[in-house]
Amino acid sequence: MNMNVANSSTTPLIELDRVSKRFGGLQAVADVSFSMRSGEIVSLIGPNGAGKTTLFNLITGQLQPSEGVLSFEGREIGNLKPHQRARIGFGRTFQISQTLTSMSVLENAMIGAFLQEKELAAAAARAQHALTLVGLDHAAKRRSGELTLGERRRLEVARALSMNPKIVLLDEVMAGLNETEVEEIISLVRKLNAEGVTFLVIEHNLKVVRAFSQRVLVLNRGQLLAEGTADDVLANPDVIEAYLGRSGQ
Ligand SMILES: Nc1ncnc2c1ncn2[C@@H]1O[C@H](COP(=O)(O)OP(=O)(O)OP(=O)(O)O)[C@@H](O)[C@H]1O
Ligand SMILES: [Mg+2]
Repeated sequence: MNMNVANSSTTPLIELDRVSKRFGGLQAVADVSFSMRSGEIVSLIGPNGAGKTTLFNLITGQLQPSEGVLSFEGREIGNLKPHQRARIGFGRTFQISQTLTSMSVLENAMIGAFLQEKELAAAAARAQHALTLVGLDHAAKRRSGELTLGERRRLEVARALSMNPKIVLLDEVMAGLNETEVEEIISLVRKLNAEGVTFLVIEHNLKVVRAFSQRVLVLNRGQLLAEGTADDVLANPDVIEAYLGRSGQ
């Protein structure tokens, strides 16, 4: 490609170059390469066990790749720990909720804020702002254990946002939510994206994938099987086969 690395408009926000992860004999992620531009909303789909969450863990540093190179804004980040990646611009949610139920909603949101702010008051202000963005500001003092599932998911998004991220990775944040709650999260993602936040989203609900993805990546058995618009990818016979082949339909 003819590009100047110093030019931020052409440098990808994140780039994976032949990234792999093995767990013993299991190749969970195999030779995956892709990049994302700032401002994109990209969905990552694929059957259960395809390696989606493992790929997220490699991107945000919970796991180290067996092979391959990860870059953020043109800089290699493979040696950075999760909190260091959070500090330079990664926010994420976890498939298994990490909400601390005995703490208040505000305190949970402050866990993210402390990565950026040393002072209590500044962290609280940042967390409060993130709660406002997800529509949970009124619930700041409530115990997190009292929240509905939909509210808890929005709290997890708030915790990611309180780090003031450039890119947010959402791991099945809509799972188990009703249609209204799903709509709320879709509008939230669109609103934040309009304000400049880039999103990589693991999502099983294909209606949701169609609704907001500018681009879709399909992972199957650890490999990138297809990449394109939602319409193209979801009509791809290999993708249909990968889904139906696993679910037995
Ligand atoms: N820490 C680990 N140790 C060993 N095997 C693992 C580990 N984490 C994931 N795996 C395995 O790697 C494969 C990919 O798992 P992963 O959780 O990334 O899939 P996924 O696409 O997120 O699936 P789902 O849609 O069910 O969330 C699976 O076979 C899983 O059992
Ligand atoms: Mg997963």
